[in-house]
Parts: sequence; C-alpha cells; structure tokens
Amino acid sequence: GAFTPDAELWYKAELAAQILPLKKERNAVILGHNYMEPALFHTIPDFVGDSLELSRRAAETDHDIIVFCGVEFMAETAKILNPEKTVLIPSRKAGCSLAESITAEDVRRLREQFPGVPIVAYINTYADVKAEVDICCTSSNAAKVVESLNSDTVIFLPDEYLARNVARETGKHIIFPTQIPRDGQDTMLDYHIIAWHGRCEVHEQFTVEDIENVRATFPDVVVLAHPECSPEVVAAADFSGSTSAMIRFVEETNAPRYLLLTECAMGDNIAAAHPDKEMVRLCSIRCRHMNQIRLEDTLAALQHIQYEVHVPEEIRVRALRAVQRMLEIG
Ligand code: 13P
Ligand code: SF4
Repeated sequence: GAFTPDAELWYKAELAAQILPLKKERNAVILGHNYMEPALFHTIPDFVGDSLELSRRAAETDHDIIVFCGVEFMAETAKILNPEKTVLIPSRKAGCSLAESITAEDVRRLREQFPGVPIVAYINTYADVKAEVDICCTSSNAAKVVESLNSDTVIFLPDEYLARNVARETGKHIIFPTQIPRDGQDTMLDYHIIAWHGRCEVHEQFTVEDIENVRATFPDVVVLAHPECSPEVVAAADFSGSTSAMIRFVEETNAPRYLLLTECAMGDNIAAAHPDKEMVRLCSIRCRHMNQIRLEDTLAALQHIQYEVHVPEEIRVRALRAVQRMLEIG
C-alpha cells in the first residue's frame, strides 16, 4: 500500500527480526507451508514444506508451541498429532475451499450408502471429517494410499480433480454417488473410485488453453501442475506432484524455463532461492486463505498466544487414527 518497495522490505525485515527472538523465548517452532509469501517463507520458519512434510514435522517436534503458518486444516492436523501442545494459527480466516466442501454428516451418509467400502480423505478436510474416514492422504501419497487399501472400490473425498487424477494413475474408474443406480451394489463393484465434488478454488482456474498459449510463446517451457488441477490440465503438463515435489523437480532439472500451475507465491519463492531459474509469470492466482497469514499476524500470534487451535478430544482420537495410518504408509 503506502510503502515504497524498499521501505516495505525494511518493514518486513524488522518484523522478522522481532519474531525470531520471541520464537525462542516462547520455545515455539514455526512451520511454514510452501505457499507462504516470500518475506515470510525465507525468514521465520524452522521448517517449510508440503502438507505431508509439515505433518511429519508436527508429529516430531518437542517445542511447547507450534505456530502453523498455513491454513486451518493444517494447523488442526498438527493439533490432532500433539494434543498436549499449544498450536497457534496466526489468522482465523485461513480456510480452504476443499475443506469446506464436505461435512462429517456427508461422510456418514456415504458410509451408510456404501457399507464396507474404505474411505480416504484428503488432508484438506476438517477434523470432524477425518474422524469419520479410514485413512487420510496428501497430494504426495494419494495413489499410494489408495493402492494400500487392496480394495476394488474406494471412496475418495472431497477433491473431484485429485480423485480423477488418482483414478488415472491407479487405472481405476471414477464415479460420483449420484451416478450410481439405486439398486446398484453389484453395479458399483464395476467401478473403482467414488468421488465427491469439492474443488480447490485456485487450481480449478488453470486451463489447457493457458498451457497451449505459453507453449506457443516458449516451446521449450516445462510445465508443472499440482494434482488439484483438472485431469486435462495435468495431462497437458510435463510433471505433476505435491508442492514440494514440484520444487524438487525445478531444483533437480535444467530446463530453459518453467511454468508452475499452482498458487503463485510458490513460484516467487523458487525464483528468490534460485535466481538462475526462469519462471514464466503466467498468472498470479494467490490463495486468499494462505494470504491471510503474514508476518504481522505471526508476530501477534507469538505476542498474544493467539489463535489457539482446539479439537474436541472425542473427535481428535478418531481423526488421529486416520492421520497416523497415513503417516505409517509414507
Ligand atoms: P501440498 O500438500 O502439495 O503442499 O498441497 C497443499 C495445498 O493446499 C495445495 O493447494
Ligand atoms: Fe485450499 Fe486451494 Fe488454498 Fe490449497 S490453494 S489451501 S487447496 S483453497
């Protein structure tokens, strides 16, 4: 807003300089998702990573306080794993369109409709939904989790596109509950992944046309797409993987330029860490939920011990089973 670029940089550096000693004083660990803005991502977290890596870090920490610079379902997962620790999220407004697309009641209804069929929940769900399912997954282990269940039919929720991408990867068919005939137990067995209709409000915006346009200008571009993108977009890309898998891909390859079809802060973070890599700036779709978490809010979180994440114990223990089962699979 009112700052010149230089003044803004100094202001952010000053905030980071206040956060670091306070973090020590409070015996806190800061976990930062790959989508944090560069000024935060490169300064205050003890660990950065994708959802799975940060869940593992949360499971291992011995600090008193976990400050989760990410969205609510991530902070909640940290609390599920650490009931005795104080888990803080710097803003109460950091939701997620996927987590909001399904309720515990929806899952109970699916369970009734398809008795005996294992249910996989993407980690982008709230604790009460996790409490109703058999196992969780993230974008980095979704296919592996589905295959580990050794079941012809699996319910996979709530991301329609991730479900379709996993179906493609595992060779299973996909179906939506509304498409299943009422007398259909036998018919259902012909199908394999029963999906839900959630979408990531960021990744659903990328189109095959976006890719074609960039390839027309830069024929040597390497395109990476998060698996929350539509299957058409993933098929038109050169690589698809979790946020950390995409970062590693860029770091370990030597293409003339890269196009990242994911939340835009991540491209900025890679560009800042690797000035030699050329990142094509196609679009700047920022996740409005991730964008809630800034240095100012993180400083306030540590100063005032806010906002504490709570999960009712009865829900937590059931959700923990699904999360732990995932962590055991890898
Ligand atoms: P990752 O687990 O790949 O980091 O994804 C989290 C997310 O919210 C993607 O939009
Ligand atoms: Fe949720 Fe999409 Fe934002 Fe990730 S980018 S937190 S999936 S809305």
